Amino acid sequence: MSINHQVPIFEVKELSFSVRGQKILSSISFEIFNSEYVAIIGPNGGGKTTLIRILLGLDKPTTGTVKLFGKKIQEFKKWHKIGYVPQRASLVDSSFPATVLDIVNMGRTSQRKIFSSMTKEDRDAVDDAMKKMDICDLKDKMVGTLSGGQRQRVMIARALASRPEILILDEPNTGVDAHSQKNFYELLSRLNKEENITIVFITHDIGVIADDIGRLFTINQKAIICNDPKKAMSCEDMSKLYGIDAHLIHNHKHEH
Ligand SMILES: Nc1ncnc2c1ncn2[C@@H]1O[C@H](COP(=O)(O)OP(=O)(O)OP(=O)(O)O)[C@@H](O)[C@H]1O
Ligand SMILES: [Mg+2]
Repeated sequence: MSINHQVPIFEVKELSFSVRGQKILSSISFEIFNSEYVAIIGPNGGGKTTLIRILLGLDKPTTGTVKLFGKKIQEFKKWHKIGYVPQRASLVDSSFPATVLDIVNMGRTSQRKIFSSMTKEDRDAVDDAMKKMDICDLKDKMVGTLSGGQRQRVMIARALASRPEILILDEPNTGVDAHSQKNFYELLSRLNKEENITIVFITHDIGVIADDIGRLFTINQKAIICNDPKKAMSCEDMSKLYGIDAHLIHNHKHEH
């Protein structure tokens, strides 16, 4: 594969993170390349969200280095290249005073000067994102009145509105029914294959997407990286790290 000749989107070396003497992440190294689909799994409290926050510059590593698109994270400025849907993003207060269009428009703010009005380019990007997520008919609804699955799509449309090259999703499925989830996984797979968007997807639902993903990262303070997720399903190391029986994951996959 020619993949190794590219500049990685993320390059993480010997990253560690501690809070008040408690080690949360320990000597983690990996690279993520353009148009990959990476799933991240791991037990609650294993450090997945913390790792993502470090990749986004929201937390500073205690030791180690992070590069984005070949640049040291301290010098990186093109944050609009990265779309991020945080954990619990869809649990908006039901009285939150914004329409769906307002929320998706927020995805353009990093490209605009503060207080300047939306350009045609901004409006086109917002329209495209809403089309991709199939929420055009919801645009004037108050976001607080939507269902969990609809809110999820709105939050992803907001992330897509910056026309990112990479989309990071932190367990976006809370409160979403099985049917909507399936549509959602198909959509992620389409964004990856057809739009060439790199996807980093934190999930507990690994069996269902095993056929879509390229690599699997298991994070539990340390990282285990599996380049062939289908083999990982029976990988003893992974099951130990994840703290559950890997065969359960395997069987789960075949129930769907
Ligand atoms: N800023 C912080 N201050 C104190 N503790 C923190 C901080 N950030 C993370 N932690 C701790 O780090 C550990 C990892 O948390 P993190 O949210 O990254 O786990 P996670 O893998 O995302 O878990 P989950 O699957 O429940 O979302 C937890 O024990 C958490 O309490
Ligand atoms: Mg988390």
